[in-house]
Amino acid sequence: MTDETKGGKPAKGPFDSDSATAQGVARGLTNYGDKGFSLFLRKAFIKGAGLSDDALARPIIGIVNTGSSYNPCHGNAPQLIEAVKRGVMLAGGLPMDFPTISVHESFSQPTSMYLRNLMSMDTEEMIRAQPMDAVVLIGGCDKTVPAQLMGAASAGVPAIQLVTGSMLTGSHRGERVGACTDCRRYWGRYRAEEIDAVEIADVNNQLVASVGTCSVMGTASTMACITEALGMMVAGGASAPAVTADRVRVAERTGATAVAMAASRLTPDRILTGKSIENALRVLLAIGGSTNGIVHLTAIAGRLGIDIDLAGLDRISRETPVLVDLKPSGQHYMEDFHDAGGMPALLRELRPFLHLDALTVSGRTLGEELDAAPPAFKQDVIRTAASPIYPVGGLAVLRGNLAPGGAIIKQSAANPKLMEHEGRAVVFEDAEDMALRIDDDALDVTADDILVLKRIGPTGAPGMPEAGYMPIPKKLARAGVKDMVRISDGRMSGTAAGTIVLHVTPESAIGGPLAYVQNGDRIRLSVAQREIALLVDDAELARRAAAKPITRPTAERGYRKLFLQTVTQADQGVDFDFLRAGVTNDTVPKK
Ligand code: FES
Repeated sequence: MTDETKGGKPAKGPFDSDSATAQGVARGLTNYGDKGFSLFLRKAFIKGAGLSDDALARPIIGIVNTGSSYNPCHGNAPQLIEAVKRGVMLAGGLPMDFPTISVHESFSQPTSMYLRNLMSMDTEEMIRAQPMDAVVLIGGCDKTVPAQLMGAASAGVPAIQLVTGSMLTGSHRGERVGACTDCRRYWGRYRAEEIDAVEIADVNNQLVASVGTCSVMGTASTMACITEALGMMVAGGASAPAVTADRVRVAERTGATAVAMAASRLTPDRILTGKSIENALRVLLAIGGSTNGIVHLTAIAGRLGIDIDLAGLDRISRETPVLVDLKPSGQHYMEDFHDAGGMPALLRELRPFLHLDALTVSGRTLGEELDAAPPAFKQDVIRTAASPIYPVGGLAVLRGNLAPGGAIIKQSAANPKLMEHEGRAVVFEDAEDMALRIDDDALDVTADDILVLKRIGPTGAPGMPEAGYMPIPKKLARAGVKDMVRISDGRMSGTAAGTIVLHVTPESAIGGPLAYVQNGDRIRLSVAQREIALLVDDAELARRAAAKPITRPTAERGYRKLFLQTVTQADQGVDFDFLRAGVTNDTVPKK
């Protein structure tokens, strides 16, 4: 009898692996048809990097590295990775960082949204392909955090989000400025010829004062805040600016938390539930968050079979006040939000609206985290429910014959005088048409008209670019016009403001009613009635549709072909249809 068969049971050799219970380096072995050999080979290769058997016996914490020279919003990634690694090792784990693609808003053609699903697939597959017991997702710039949460939700490995944090604000001739609400404001002034070429160049140097994400409540800040509300981030992890010691400490804490999550197998499906998604929707409303947050949250929830009901969203919007006074809806910047107590302070104010029993990455509930949060103090960035900056939620869901599947308006950033408005449509057939004609002095347009832009939806551009923030026609801008009603099937940056109707569903490129709007048609917007109506009778619309049949855009090959064939509409998060969960497990918000 050999040692290996003593007691009737073979003793475990150093390269034996049971795939059902495998942990650490033995997880997810490469398929060579011999598991022992696969583990033997894997260990041999990783030992080439100098790792010991002791290190390889630890729980492995993957760290997604999205640092890139093309992504200044992630410019502090090396420092954060170092801090996460420190946290992992202090807690007894083995950190392993690995790259995925990185998507920056301004360095992604045709638009970053076109690449979000690709990044989510990269994230999901590399988490699944490589051995890790938990994963730290480091993201920040607009599409990266949703992509990572979508991928992690599908991969099913314990996952925790770390954001890179917001950039610092700059100063232009004594005025505090930050990306990118002030980018748009100054560009609007330049277009209106209120400032000259020298000044706009000076502003360009000051808008982004450090690495990190946009300093207002744009999409990146919105996603950071709602990720904390989802429970997918350490408490207080959303708001620390990128270049602060607080941000580095958050990173260290994130690493340590990931090790605990690996031990307890705290998988995303236990945290991303109907309750936590509803908490995130409440926070999206209370921060006056980016309209993009709805699309991304819908996509994240869709990975776990949770549907977001737009009518329910509108209902809770009517009862959730906007409490955070940040640009573009308010005055301050993310670093002020952090100094005011950040998300724990906001969540404390929102407590009556939240599901406090929702689980978080710490293994504690949201309510337990709030009980342990630092005490409140006097500040003027996060208001109380009794003294909100806007009495009801920042977003409204519109319906009508122009948007049977819904449309969104960010009412907290809109002009109250235009929220009940009827006007004549001035139509642009696509973004190129708009670029060609919008500044033409011969354009037949007045301030009371409604600008309509077609073919910037999910398949139209493609990728649903942030072109919904149409510029005010130059001749009107010169005359002092600052806002007009604008309607499209696209998105707008979370940093933008104006009376802008977005996400018109179904989109025009697949034959939604928006495709059939013509110059001179009358359109009625009533935010009070939640209505967006094309005042053209059904028979005339049917005649126009018959005269101009529309087929879904296609492409010959590659990712673009996959995108155009499988991308869903805004009400399904613009995710690919084959990436969404096959069944609906829950619908939120509840009635
Ligand atoms: Fe990266 Fe704004 S451009 S967050």
